[in-house]
Amino acid sequence: MPHNIAVLGGDGIGPEVTAEAVKVLQSTGIDFNFDHALIGGAAYDDGGHPLPASTLDLCRASDAVLLGAVGGPKWDNVQPITLRPEVGALLPLRSELNLYANVRPAKTLRPLMMASPLKGDRALVDLIVIRELTGGIYFGTPRERRDNGNTAVDTCLYSRHEVERIAERAFAVARTRKRELVSVDKANVLETSRLWREVVNEMAAKNTDVSVSHMLVDNCAMQLIRDPQQFDVILTENMFGDIISDEASMITGSLGLLPSASLSDARPSGQVFGLYEPIHGSAPDIAGQGRANPIAAILSAAMMLRYSFDDDASATRIEEAVESALNCGLRTADIYEKGCRLVSTTEMGDAIADKLRQ
Ligand code: IPM
Ligand code: MG
Repeated sequence: MPHNIAVLGGDGIGPEVTAEAVKVLQSTGIDFNFDHALIGGAAYDDGGHPLPASTLDLCRASDAVLLGAVGGPKWDNVQPITLRPEVGALLPLRSELNLYANVRPAKTLRPLMMASPLKGDRALVDLIVIRELTGGIYFGTPRERRDNGNTAVDTCLYSRHEVERIAERAFAVARTRKRELVSVDKANVLETSRLWREVVNEMAAKNTDVSVSHMLVDNCAMQLIRDPQQFDVILTENMFGDIISDEASMITGSLGLLPSASLSDARPSGQVFGLYEPIHGSAPDIAGQGRANPIAAILSAAMMLRYSFDDDASATRIEEAVESALNCGLRTADIYEKGCRLVSTTEMGDAIADKLRQ
């Protein structure tokens, strides 16, 4: 049986980089079936909504989803905000598909470590942020204006069950690595953080093979710059994870090259349903010019093999093919340096696919 993959290219460079990820998956020798659907601004232009029901249905019927990127200046002023690509497509996609576990690795690619804003060895990071993705202040209600629009309310809400299931994921990931988990919260101020810490502590007592510590989010932001190598797996709630994962990815110097996974529960088949996407945006300024870097999309496809299809070996082969293309001096425009060979989006994808076939 082939793996059924929903391919949602989206806007800007999304379709171009996703096509390269599909190309690389096709060169693994694994049997896939790819179905394409619209999302984001492209879907809004086509039918008036950034997340059409047909797209959601395709995702539900698939084993995994490959997403490019959504949004762009063309849709920045779409009203109401719930029809804008980011808010109208990404957030409901996450909650409708129950993608509560966002896995964001920040790993320095050695050939590119000079691009890190941190000096010397501090640039060499290899950590994973596990961000809760369907709860907290992004989704809590009430969320409204009061007082003739002069007061605004957002609600941060977490229930024990939400903390337990994301923490469970983090323990599982920690177990595949150094067995060190740092849970990040703001327990000195927030009630949701106090519940978060309580639950994580209870689970730590039952999972003694993983060592757990807690860090306040402001301290974590500072420690990530001071000594990023102290971190292996960071577990945190939705908004802290949004911020901390951007910071962590910048340290690698390859923000545009990092993948991510958003995972749901395992299906009865045992397969974990997940959505895989680059952390970069739709880069409308370079769309359609063959200048986009497909590596983040390709590494997202590798994560798909690892997390949805339990195929660590093939995932690692893709990751090695990417490093090898970089080691050979191939560079798209965004990471170009003197002495390297400038290649287009498709040339980079071809080179990585070729290495996989070797
Ligand atoms: C991300 C993005 C989104 C988020 C936006 C586009 C809604 O920043 O995936 O990190 O805040 O979750
Ligand atoms: Mg973000």
